[in-house]
Amino acid sequence: MAKASEIEKNNGFEMGNPYYCKECKRNHTKGKIYKDHLNFASFENNTEEDNLDENNELNNDDYDDEEELINAFNEIEDRENKIEIEDQLVDDLELKDVDLDDEDELNREKSLKECINAVKELPGVGEATLNKLIKAGFSSLESIAFTPPKIIQSESGLGEKTTEKLIKSSMEILNIGFKSAEDVWEHRKNIARITTGSQELDDSLGGGVETGSVIEFFGEFRTGKTQIMHQLCVNVQLPRENGGLEGKALYIDTEGTFRPERIIQMSEGLDLDHKKVLKNIIFGRAYNSDHQVLLIKEAANLIKEKGVKLIVVDSLIGHFRSEYIGRGTLATRQQTINSHLHDLLRLCDIYPDLAIVVTNQVQSKPDVFYGNPLQAAGGNIVAHGSTIRIYLRKGKGEQRIAKIVDAPHLPEGDAVFSITENGISD
Ligand code: GTP
Ligand code: MG
Repeated sequence: MAKASEIEKNNGFEMGNPYYCKECKRNHTKGKIYKDHLNFASFENNTEEDNLDENNELNNDDYDDEEELINAFNEIEDRENKIEIEDQLVDDLELKDVDLDDEDELNREKSLKECINAVKELPGVGEATLNKLIKAGFSSLESIAFTPPKIIQSESGLGEKTTEKLIKSSMEILNIGFKSAEDVWEHRKNIARITTGSQELDDSLGGGVETGSVIEFFGEFRTGKTQIMHQLCVNVQLPRENGGLEGKALYIDTEGTFRPERIIQMSEGLDLDHKKVLKNIIFGRAYNSDHQVLLIKEAANLIKEKGVKLIVVDSLIGHFRSEYIGRGTLATRQQTINSHLHDLLRLCDIYPDLAIVVTNQVQSKPDVFYGNPLQAAGGNIVAHGSTIRIYLRKGKGEQRIAKIVDAPHLPEGDAVFSITENGISD
């Protein structure tokens, strides 16, 4: 983040004037603008206070203590230059690495080594094949067994026969095939849940956001989708007895609405050390739909290595909607979304203790005369891809209403929650 003086010097912004940053969606009345945003966001010079309030009620109300937040930021920046929060944009196609505690690091290294050793033991795997597999991100039996052969082939450069053999042996070792309903029940009993912060919302989800599924929150703008995503990134880090999974979160932001400030507020609401919480969120900004797809493929490698227990994609199809315009592109668009969703679903299969949450916009269906004309975007492809769908709408003031739609094992019902300064609550 840049100091006001730097901005003034570099960019000719005048001190003291309020600027409305379209990236932050708020005014920087103190003349302090995030330096990164200068590269791609646009600004409006708002000198009339009245105007500001009207155009921008969300932002002025939301951040009373702007000064305090900015101070908190500067403090972190000074003490720990190596984690540049606003700078955690994606370098080429790589998700930025975060520092891990030493013990964590050792454990992860150990488990990664174990995975690689198992792959090494597969019949027919020599040094060269192993290298190709690891380079393409197939460093565990699970990732080989659950990926379609064509994808393994194209990404690793291995031949058809070798790939088939590898998949077959991995499946045998992992004992994948038909199983009894009792085994399925055993598996489902191990499902863990992350609290949303609201008891009512948790209850309607059967105890929180569950692992092993793709969960979709959809609704109109400002219904709290992004806020819930932020809250889950904090809550996943909580101890299990407090509704967390003691894991890290991986956040793919397609809309540029990730706000470390909110993570700090939410951490403080839970009496957590915000520096640690921020450290445990791996952040990737997807600049277009291809980039988004690649980030998820890249993410697959980080899950085991870093102990990621939650993946957030906010929003799932925003880029697809803006890039594929017109009827002619519909089929390709749906195909690409479909394969992207399957990448996500596959991750749930490979890592049963991973939760995936995505957000989705709504579109209005002009041909609906009765009932709700708003529908989740993406059509049937997205509807069938996600396991649990939650429709969000606005209530009074801070209140929001969530309705579970389409969950195979949950009753349909309304849950009311609030978005407060400290995050999601009842
Ligand atoms: P789109 O991404 O535009 O589709 O909307 P969204 O559903 O992601 O909305 P988001 O999660 O960004 O919710 C925005 C709402 O959260 C605002 O209307 C605010 O009411 C609320 N909000 C955000 N920050 C704060 C805060 O610091 N305090 C309080 N009380 N509310 C906040
Ligand atoms: Mg949002």
